[in-house]
Amino acid sequence: MSETPFHPVDPSGPESGASLRRFDFLVIGSGLAGMHFALRVAEVGDVALITKRRATDSATDWAQGGIAAVMDPGDSFETHVQDTLKAGAGLCNEETVRFVIERGPDAIAALLKNGVEFDPAREPGGSGFDLTREGGHSKRRILHRHDATGREIERALVARVRAHPRIHLFEDHCAIDLVTATKVGQTGTNRALGAYVLDATTGEIDAFTAPITMLATGGAGKVYLYTSNPDVASGDGMAMAYRAGATLANMEFMQFHPTCLFHPQAKSFLISEAVRGEGGILRRRDGEAFMGNYHEMRDLAPRDIVARAIDAELKRTGDDYVVLDITTKDPAFVRGRFPTIFERCLKYGIDITRDPIPVVPAAHYCCGGVRTNRSGETDLPNLFAAGEVTSTGLHGANRLASNSLLEALVYADAAASAAITRLPEVEETGSVPAWQHGEATPIDEAVVITQNWDEIRRFMWNYVGIVRSDRRLSRARHRIEMLREEINEYYWNFRVTPELIELRNLATVAELVIRCAAFRKESRGLHYNIDHPEPDDVVFGRDTLIQRGDEPWISPR
Ligand code: SIN
Repeated sequence: MSETPFHPVDPSGPESGASLRRFDFLVIGSGLAGMHFALRVAEVGDVALITKRRATDSATDWAQGGIAAVMDPGDSFETHVQDTLKAGAGLCNEETVRFVIERGPDAIAALLKNGVEFDPAREPGGSGFDLTREGGHSKRRILHRHDATGREIERALVARVRAHPRIHLFEDHCAIDLVTATKVGQTGTNRALGAYVLDATTGEIDAFTAPITMLATGGAGKVYLYTSNPDVASGDGMAMAYRAGATLANMEFMQFHPTCLFHPQAKSFLISEAVRGEGGILRRRDGEAFMGNYHEMRDLAPRDIVARAIDAELKRTGDDYVVLDITTKDPAFVRGRFPTIFERCLKYGIDITRDPIPVVPAAHYCCGGVRTNRSGETDLPNLFAAGEVTSTGLHGANRLASNSLLEALVYADAAASAAITRLPEVEETGSVPAWQHGEATPIDEAVVITQNWDEIRRFMWNYVGIVRSDRRLSRARHRIEMLREEINEYYWNFRVTPELIELRNLATVAELVIRCAAFRKESRGLHYNIDHPEPDDVVFGRDTLIQRGDEPWISPR
């Protein structure tokens, strides 16, 4: 067995009494990728689907904008491919881009089959769907359900998952680490066997084992102080895969969404890019529209450009926010098209049909993650991954809006097909030792966890945010190295809790982002370093890779 995934084993310590739970497939995460994969593989085997809170607590559930796919006769795969490559700033893998985009219509058909409903077209003809536009898209191609597309997807898929006789849904179950094995005479981990999982309601830790494990744990927006992400986005899958020896790619490319609501009581509330797609204009507080000074696509420029423009305007004027103005549109249209945003803003005293919306950028999407091939396989055998936890080559240095639900679906589907084929060939998981608490005691001071958590998120925002510099990155590196020691000490000495698990993962992901950002001495897409303001295609024109025990390096292809 590998040496890392275990909490200290003290032979004289009490056994936890943990049991071994065996399934054909273990799926970690209940967003679109995890649920689609589970529904597909449940055709051939028993599936454990574990999720650390309720099934609907996922980034998918929070997705407002929609899912990009070529559905309109006036659109083409080629245009969608070119828009994606342009946004990706030279780092997309073109074969991956074509692979995902050409599967768009089938992916939409799969969602419709599972009961997902999209808004119908307002006029007869065309695709039959109401297609909206977002930044970087040269055509209207985003299917949506009002401004709560993710919620509709979760509604339909969670109902199917709950009703499926071969899917065992474990809510409030938090994966601690992957269980891995090494063959006698070999070094390093050579396959995934499942995961140790904490039942947050009982405190018990069980080993969930399966020939195939799927990581669908989403992103890591909570690494930053301000984020559009739900609280669950603590980078668990990325951190677990890293500790288990898998390769991660492009961790420095964190996407900041340009428009999150700025209000003291509004935590993490996104104002969808579709508001700009439907005519919303960004203005300074003095009413001046400014995006024309930054890009020919103005308010619909790619996200990295809009977020940096807002950041520059805020720094220049000293204001706390800019505003997004949709007041010129028909109020009935705005209320009907954006009911969630309308209601939420009204709760804070902002009537978006009459008042410009105060907005600021916030961490939104990890373009990097666990590297997979086009079957969703990582380089740790029997470990698959799909969704935001991955780096597939689709997003490159900057994700095109609404490409991520499409990627999650296409890759979950490809992974399911590969996993179904693979299942009969996979060796039995064999015996897996029960988790032992050793001499770990219950946590004495929870304040240590909140203090470290706040500290990481604050220096990540200040030092590793939209605009970076060598000095800020080096400061961040010192901070995270100190905190890593402290958190590890805590992890080994105290009984794990969901908060401690998340903090440990958050610290790992923060460190990976910092190390990869410091390594990439150029500016490209979402990574902007004032000390290296130009792209350097010769040295850095490919993916950054990182693996446990190594410094980052540039992919040979
Ligand atoms: C949004 O609605 O602006 C988010 C869409 C996305 O991030 O793809």
